[in-house]
This record gives sequence, C-alpha cells and structure tokens, in this order.
Amino acid sequence: GSGKGAALITAVARRYCGGAQQQYLYSMRFSDETLLEIMSRFRRELEKGLSQDTNPTATVKMLPTFVRSIPDGTEKGDFIALDLGGSNFRILRVKVSHEKKQTVQMETEIYDTPEDIIHGSGTRLFDHVAECLGDFMEKHKIKDKKLPVGFTFSFPCAQTKLDEGILLTWTKRFKASGVEGMDVVKLLNKAIKKRGDYEADIMAVVNDTVGTMMTCGFDDHRCEVGIIIGTGTNACYMEEMRHIELVEGDEGRMCINTEWGAFGDDGMLEDIRTDFDRDIDRGSLNPGKQLFEKMVSGMYMGELVRLILVKMAREGLLFEGRITPELLTKGKFETKHISAIEKSKEGLSKAKEILARLGVEPSADDCIAVQHVCAIVSFRSASLVAATLAAILTRLKDNKHVPRLKTTVGIDGSLYKMHPQYARRLHKTVRRLVPECDVRFLLSESGSGKGAAMVTAWAYRFPGLGSG
Ligand code: GLC
Repeated sequence: GSGKGAALITAVARRYCGGAQQQYLYSMRFSDETLLEIMSRFRRELEKGLSQDTNPTATVKMLPTFVRSIPDGTEKGDFIALDLGGSNFRILRVKVSHEKKQTVQMETEIYDTPEDIIHGSGTRLFDHVAECLGDFMEKHKIKDKKLPVGFTFSFPCAQTKLDEGILLTWTKRFKASGVEGMDVVKLLNKAIKKRGDYEADIMAVVNDTVGTMMTCGFDDHRCEVGIIIGTGTNACYMEEMRHIELVEGDEGRMCINTEWGAFGDDGMLEDIRTDFDRDIDRGSLNPGKQLFEKMVSGMYMGELVRLILVKMAREGLLFEGRITPELLTKGKFETKHISAIEKSKEGLSKAKEILARLGVEPSADDCIAVQHVCAIVSFRSASLVAATLAAILTRLKDNKHVPRLKTTVGIDGSLYKMHPQYARRLHKTVRRLVPECDVRFLLSESGSGKGAAMVTAWAYRFPGLGSG
C-alpha cells in the first residue's frame, strides 16, 4: 500500500474532483504502476545520454564531470569555494587539515545577486562575482594569497577537464546574455584579471549535485549519488567508465551530472503533465525546457498551487468563489508557504494567515482544502523524484552485478530541507519502488562548498589528471 497520507490525498482529490469533469487534482496522484513506468522511461534516458550515437539528441544530457572518486580522507589545504546558482550566492573559505584526523574549518559570506545582474550582460554578472570575491578576500585578509578556487556553478556545463565548464543553457532564474556556449572559468578569470587587485587560481568547476555528493562522501564513503531538490532539481552519480562513451578510457568510474531537470523536454512526460504545468512553462524564462524540473522544484511549486487555487475558486470550490488581485498575481504564493501550510500542528493556522494576506477570507474548510492541494502538489514532486532516483539506484545495482545494493545518497536543497513532510515521503516511496536497495539518505549539512573544496584539493594535488 502507499500509506495513509496517499490514501487521504486520493480521498480529497475525489471529493474536489467533482466526478468526471474535474480530473485535474486526481490526475496529480500517481499509482505505483505509473511511478514504475516513469522509472523505466528515465532508465532509458540514462542509457540514451551515455551512448555516443544517441547523446546528441538525448534530453537528459548525462554530462561527464571529470570527478573520478569521492574523497579518500587524504585531502588537505586552504581553499576558496564559490557557490553560484542556488538560492544564495555564497563564498566560503575551506581549510582542510590533518592532525591525526581530517578536519574541516569553514567561513562563509552570503552575497546578493540582484535580478538586474542575473538578467543583464554576462560581463556584468562575472564582474559582480569577481567583486564579491575581492570583498571576501579583503574581509578575510587573504587578498595577498593566491588560493586555489573551486567554483560550484549550478547549471548544465560541458566539460572536457575539471577546470573548464561550457555553459550549455541557463536554467532556473538566470538568463545573463553572452554566457551560453562560453567557458565560465575563462569569463571569471577575465573579470578577475581586469580588476588586478588580487589573483585566484580556479582549479575546478563543479555542479552543486557533485559538490553535495562529495560533501556527503567525506563523511560516508559509500556515497555515490548526489541530489538537489531546491530552486531547481538535479542528480549526479558514479558511473562505470566503460559505459561513458564520450570519455576515453575504461578503467574505474566517473561522476556523471545527469541534468534530470530536462527529463520530458522531448515529450516523454506529456501523459502526466497537466494544464497547470503547461501554464507554468509558458510563463517561464525557458519555455519548453526543464519540464521535469518545473513539475518538481521549489522555484515552481508555489506557483503551481496558486494556479490550482485560482481554478478552484473560479469553479466556486474555494473561498465562496472570491478571487482577489493578490490571488491572481504571479509569485504571490511561494513554495515556503507550502512548507508552512503542511506543518502538522500549526499548518491550518498558517494557511489561514497566508490566505488572509491574499485577501480571500478563508473559511475553516477552505484552509483544510488548501492544505490538501499543497499536499497533492508536494507529494507529486516527491513521487517523481523517487521514480527517477529509483532508476539511478537500479542502474548502480546492475553495474555492480549484486543482488542487493547498499548505498548512500547525499541530498541538499531548500525544498528538501524546509518542507516538513517531503523527506519522509521521498524516502518511503524510493524504498517501495526499489525494495532491493538499502538506501541511506544523508543531508548535506554544510552545502556543496566542502565538496567543491575536496575536488579542488584533488585537482591541486594531481594537476593534469583532471582531463580526458
Ligand atoms: C538546475 C540546473 C542544474 C542544477 C539544479 C539544482 O536543474 O540545470 O545544473 O544542479 O538546477 O541547482
């Protein structure tokens, strides 16, 4: 069975679906059969992206990262990690030392990335990054040092070596001009050189999923998958070199950044997408792209709920049909509101507060109904991630030719961390879909910065090895 929560949601969906005409809530609840079908579709996407012939047309890009192992405990040094593309732009100093035991010390600053900068020219964006880095070095009194830098850049990048990242396409909130098709390491180096007030040595570009896997791999050597469920969603995992046709060599493994957010961009998910998903896509910065991400991640979930509430109010199912300008305003209902409303104790009073701010004067029944809509949308997100993750886990198990897989998944992201029920639902669904896998889910407490430093340490120690 799929649990009490699922049964409740199904019941509510039935009630609000009003029979045959309004199937929209009901169709957001997936049976295990559907999830297994999505899982096998995603397995085929993994294979398509890995093989040389089909890679050029694959939607799930399966990008080689040139990271060949998780941390082995011997890394050490003094590093800077830049973290751009998540919900915060962060700069960290990471010191890894080795007195008896490997220890890590970190200092962090958070910087703004105003909208006019992330939607302006690429030159301005990288000037801004270089300026923040200068400020950081000044503050931490390291402007005279040339520390190795690891750059967590949370967008799809083609790499032929560790210290190169050619941006394939912007995703999420970013859309600066003149960056797609360019090497972001070169762009950042140029911006730093132009200033001339400090030097930096950018040793590695890492996706946030990779940083997360490496951060968790530091504590758990079994970690071989990294997942982000935040503003965007994505996963990486360790693949056998012999299956990565785009990179020379057959020995050992390499981390692959799947870019699963693009799953469905070729129409593979049309049977489960709803009119709400199509609406979201049309109003986005990148129509037709990242369709899986738009059903799952924090940047879009609040907006999905808002669209459903508008439709239900229009049909007289909510707020006695009251529709306010606030309710009709894009972005007024945020994903953090879903997290608040789904809290088990204060959830309903939060719902009342949030809905009151939208001016709809909710009744007690309205609050319950809205809580259920939130549950349907967030449950759908967790179920979809469970299906794609289950596909990766089965692939790992098959690669190893073992009857049971014991493994660890490193996870990070604002939605996963802040939503009160998300983690539990995800874990439960994964365990149900792949009962032959013993999965440990490990939250990356310190983000991806520590992991980026680990990759940098490695690049620093073995210069030249981080290439094809
Ligand atoms: C988007 C990006 C991807 C990143 C994810 C999570 O899907 O394309 O590179 O890992 O968001 O931040």
